[in-house]
Amino acid sequence: MIKLHQVSKNFSQFQAIKSVSLVINKGEIHGIIGASGAGKSTLLRLMNLLESPDDGEVEVNDQKLTSLSSIDLRQARKSIGMIFQHFNLVANKTVFENVAVSLELANYPKKERRNRVMECLQFVGLETFMEKYPSQLSGGEKQRVAIARALANNPQVLLCDEPTSSLDPNTTAEILGVLENVNKSLGVTIVIVSHEMEVIKSICNRVTVMTDGEIYEEVSIEPKGIQDIDDSPKRFVEQLTKDGEMHHA
Ligand SMILES: Nc1ncnc2c1ncn2[C@@H]1O[C@H](COP(=O)(O)OP(=O)(O)O)[C@@H](O)[C@H]1O
Ligand SMILES: [Mg+2]
Repeated sequence: MIKLHQVSKNFSQFQAIKSVSLVINKGEIHGIIGASGAGKSTLLRLMNLLESPDDGEVEVNDQKLTSLSSIDLRQARKSIGMIFQHFNLVANKTVFENVAVSLELANYPKKERRNRVMECLQFVGLETFMEKYPSQLSGGEKQRVAIARALANNPQVLLCDEPTSSLDPNTTAEILGVLENVNKSLGVTIVIVSHEMEVIKSICNRVTVMTDGEIYEEVSIEPKGIQDIDDSPKRFVEQLTKDGEMHHA
């Protein structure tokens, strides 16, 4: 579903991503974990070309994004939703309007917009909140609106950058439940960036561990616990599991 092939990204002289190759399968909930500054957000933003790579190729849904014209890229991006730590809702628009905007931008048929917005708000359990403004919502509610907005154009992939890092533990569990539902009932492939192992462990099938712009290791998480995909050392992930958070990398 998502393929990065030897992708690099520099900010001036600084190499934020160093020739990373990664495959994320259709239907997966894939975690990316690592300390602050490891390059997690940059890697995620390379997956929809919010950051364009200096080198390498990005393929999503069998389309090589790095070879597309800007018009085709805009089209391809409709199938990639994204949510953020700070929700990024438009403050002076209602819940309804926040979701509707993404349909307008995608030229979704006008007559069908209202129904589609309501469908998405129902999916996240917020249909009765449609007239409210973001400032009237809790953090968890704001993230639900952001999820509804990201789902509006029926994406195949949902990219999540620290989606629960501003939320308390109960709300975190709630939002992870919504994301699990997005994956299971809509079949959306999900990528979650987080610095919290608990979050990753509770929802992901596979985890990529990043340090200093590189992949340190990849592990699969099975119901019976963390398993190595290959024979790479397990110590790092065991450490993470104990701490529940990334402190050292
Ligand atoms: N737009 C930018 N300009 C300059 N440096 C950046 C930019 N974005 C990220 N970086 C740097 O790249 C590195 C990785 O950043 P980021 O991907 O945000 O890490 P993470 O999400 O793992 O905390 C950091 O050192 C950060 O300072
Ligand atoms: Mg980040």
